[in-house]
Amino acid sequence: MFKYISWAVALIAIGYGALITYNLHKVPDMPKFDYEEWWGKGPKDTKQDTTIRTFKIDFNDTTIADLKQRIKNRRPLTPPLEGIQSEYGMNTFYLEKVLTYWSENYDFKQRAALLNKFPHYKTRVQGLDLHFIRVKPEVNDLKVLPLLMLHGWPSSSKEFDKVIPMLTTPRDGYAFVFEVIAADLPGFGFSEGTNKPGLNPVKIGIVMRNLMKRLGFDKYYIQAGDWGSQCASHIATMFPEEVLGFHSNMPISAMSLSNIKFLLGSLFPTFTEPKYTERMYPLKKQFLYMIRESGYFHMQATKPDTIGVPLTDSPSGLAAYIMEKMAMCSHKEQLDTPHGGLENLDLDDVLDTITITWVNNCIVTSMRIYAEGYSLKWPEIVVMHKIPSKVPMAAIKFLHEVVYQPDWIIRDKFPNLVRSTTLDFGGHFAALQTPEVFADDIWESAVAFRLFHAETSK
Ligand SMILES: *[C@@H]1O[C@H](CO)[C@@H](O)[C@H](O)[C@H]1NC(C)=O
Repeated sequence: MFKYISWAVALIAIGYGALITYNLHKVPDMPKFDYEEWWGKGPKDTKQDTTIRTFKIDFNDTTIADLKQRIKNRRPLTPPLEGIQSEYGMNTFYLEKVLTYWSENYDFKQRAALLNKFPHYKTRVQGLDLHFIRVKPEVNDLKVLPLLMLHGWPSSSKEFDKVIPMLTTPRDGYAFVFEVIAADLPGFGFSEGTNKPGLNPVKIGIVMRNLMKRLGFDKYYIQAGDWGSQCASHIATMFPEEVLGFHSNMPISAMSLSNIKFLLGSLFPTFTEPKYTERMYPLKKQFLYMIRESGYFHMQATKPDTIGVPLTDSPSGLAAYIMEKMAMCSHKEQLDTPHGGLENLDLDDVLDTITITWVNNCIVTSMRIYAEGYSLKWPEIVVMHKIPSKVPMAAIKFLHEVVYQPDWIIRDKFPNLVRSTTLDFGGHFAALQTPEVFADDIWESAVAFRLFHAETSK
C-alpha cells in the first residue's frame, strides 16, 4: 500500500512540476494595440497636426518672480531631531541652504541658456504635444546611428545634457557617431500630459515609437533608465524589427521565471558571482531597504493626485520631495549626512530638474506613471513582461542603482544580452553623476550591437 501512495505522490509532484515549468515558459500572444490611440483633450482630431516646431526653453520673469516670492514666504521649517541627519527624511537645515541658493544664486536665465544650446522641438503625437531635443552630428563620411534617449521620474530630457555632446561628437577608432533624440515622456518636463486614464508604460512606448516615426526613423537604438527603461523594454518587445539595440542603466526582467530564480538564488547563492551577491541578498536586507525607501512609490502608485496638491503649491515642498529621492538614488548609504547623498550630484543639475518640474507644473502628471504602471486595470503590462525580446541588449549596472539583477536573470527577457558592465560606483542618475563612464559604455555597446547584426545577418 505504502508503495502505491509514494508512487501517487511522486506522480502528482512531477505533474505539478511540469505544469509550473510549462506556465513559466509559456509565452503569451502579443496583445493587439491601437497604435493611434488618442490621448489628447477632447475627441480625436480629424485632421492631425504633424508639424515639427522649434522650441526654446524660457524660465520667464513672471514665473520666476512668483517662485522666488513663494520660497521667501515659506513658513518656518521644523528642525530635525537631535543628532539626526537624513534618517527621518529631508534634513531641513540643509534644505534651508538649498532654498536660499535656489532663490538668490541659481541663475535661471543662464541655466535655460545652457539647455538652449541644443536644438529643441515640439510635435503632436496621438493628441499630445511632445518636447524633445534632437542633435545631429556634424559629419558627412561617418555612419550616423539614431539614438532615442528616455529618462525616468522625476527627470526629463535635461538628464542627458552632459552626455549628448559626448555622443554626437565623433571619436577616434569608431566608424560611427550618434544622432540623439532625447524626449520628455508625456506628462514630464515640457511634454504635455494626458487627461485620460490608461497612459501606462506600454502605451507610452507606442507614443515614443510614433515620435521616432514622425521624425523619419524606422530603425533606431534606445538608451534608457528608470521608467524610460520600462517603456523602452515594451518598445523592444512590440517592435523588435525597429529597435537595433537597447542600452539600459536599469535592466530588468520582470518575467515570472525571473522572480522565482531571484528567490531560489537566495537559497543557492552560488548562482551569482560572489562579489555581486550582496547587491541582491540577503533578502531581509533588500526587503528592509525597499520598505525604508519605497513610501513615495506606494503613494504615487495609489494616490498621486493627493500628494500632488502640496507639491504643486509649495516650491519648498517640491524641492524637499525631489531632492530626498535624488539623494538616496545617488548613494544608498549616506542618510547619516545632512545632504543624504545629494552631493554626489551637481546642485545646479538637481535644481534644473526641480525648476523644470515647477515651471511646467507637471509633478502630478509625472507621478501618475506609477499609478498607471502598477494598476491591475491594464493587463497588457503583465502580458508584455512575459514576452521575451530578441533585440540585442546592453546592461550597465551602477552600484547604487535601485534594482540589481544578474545577467542570468536579465537574459530571461533579453536572451540577446550582448554586453554587461557592473561597476562598484555610481548611481541611478548616471548620465548626471558619471557622464563619461555612461557615454563610453554606450559607444562600446553600439559596437557590440553592430557586431551582433553583422553576425546574425550572415
Ligand atoms: C511664463 O511661463 C508660464 C509657465 O510656463 C506660462 O504659463 C506663462 O504664460 C508665461 N508667461 C509669459 C508672460 O510668457
